[in-house]
Parts: sequence; structure tokens; C-alpha cells
Amino acid sequence: MRNLLIYGLILATTACSGENGKSDAGQTQTSKNETITATAEDIALAQTLVPDDPALAAKYDRSCRTCHSLVDAKAPLTGHVPDWRVRLDGKASEIVLANIKNGLNAMPPMGLCNDCSDDELIALTDFMSGDSSQ
Ligand code: HEC
Repeated sequence: MRNLLIYGLILATTACSGENGKSDAGQTQTSKNETITATAEDIALAQTLVPDDPALAAKYDRSCRTCHSLVDAKAPLTGHVPDWRVRLDGKASEIVLANIKNGLNAMPPMGLCNDCSDDELIALTDFMSGDSSQ
């Protein structure tokens, strides 16, 4: 029985590494040490999404987008809802806002948008996490 289990595990691992071998797939390590794998579609989507509001889109373009549309930046990908769920679910919006303003690990303070208001930072986060249809 035990051997069967181990065999199953090896099979599963092999199947997974085959998947990850695709050069366009990426992974994000969350602060809870969970790994969420972004598919090639998630990565492609992150590169194309832009807020509808032109002023917000301009700010997104020159700040958040630099990291949040690139799987290599280890930032939660724009439009990749599961990536954001594990971070934002159950977290007070003041804490999320404070994390952006103070910076969080590889994210610099204000997410590099020094002229963003609190409302804009929240709107940009809602947009990236798929919480609004902006
Ligand atoms: C230089 C790269 C970079 C830029 C620019 C950037 N981010 Fe981030 N962001 C990150 C990284 C990396 C993380 C993950 C940090 C961690 O948990 O280690 C992150 C995480 C976040 C989080 C999750 C915070 C939490 O509590 O888990 C939010 C919200 C966020 N970014 C919003 C923004 C917004 C809004 C902008 C633009 C105004 C922005 N980011 C610009 C790299 C960036």
C-alpha cells in the first residue's frame, strides 16, 4: 500500500514537472508559502489588461504594470484572481493599503506611483485583483 502511494506520488510529480517544463508557465510564491502556478493564458492576460479609466490606466502603465504583468517579478499577476485571493481574502483594506504605501518585500513604497492617492491605489488593486470591472 505504502509503495503504491509513493509510486503515485512520483507519477504525480513527474506529471507536474512536465507541465512546468513549458517555458511560458510561471509560479508565484505567496507569503503563506503556497505556490500558485500561472498558466501561459494567465501570463498573456496580465500583459494585455489595462484599466478603462484613462488617468488610472496612465498611472498603472508607468508603475504597477512594470511588475504585476510580469511573472518573473514575483508579484501577483493582474487578472490572475487566485493569486490575489490568497493575499487579500480576509485582509482589511487598510492593511493592504499600508502594504502598498510602505512597500512589501520586493515591492517598493507606493508601488512606484508617488502621485497616486489612496483611492487610486485601492482602485488599481481592485482592477488588478479582478474585484471590479474597470
Ligand atoms: C517593482 C515591482 C512592483 C511594482 C512597481 C508594484 N508592485 Fe505591487 N507587488 C510587487 C511584489 C513583488 C509583490 C509581492 C510582495 C510579497 O508579498 O512579497 C506585490 C504585492 C502587491 C499587493 C499585495 C499586498 C499584500 O498585502 O499582499 C498589492 C495590493 C500591490 N502589490 C499593489 C500594487 C499597486 C497598486 C501598484 C502600482 C501603484 C504596485 N503594486 C506596483 C511588486 C511591485
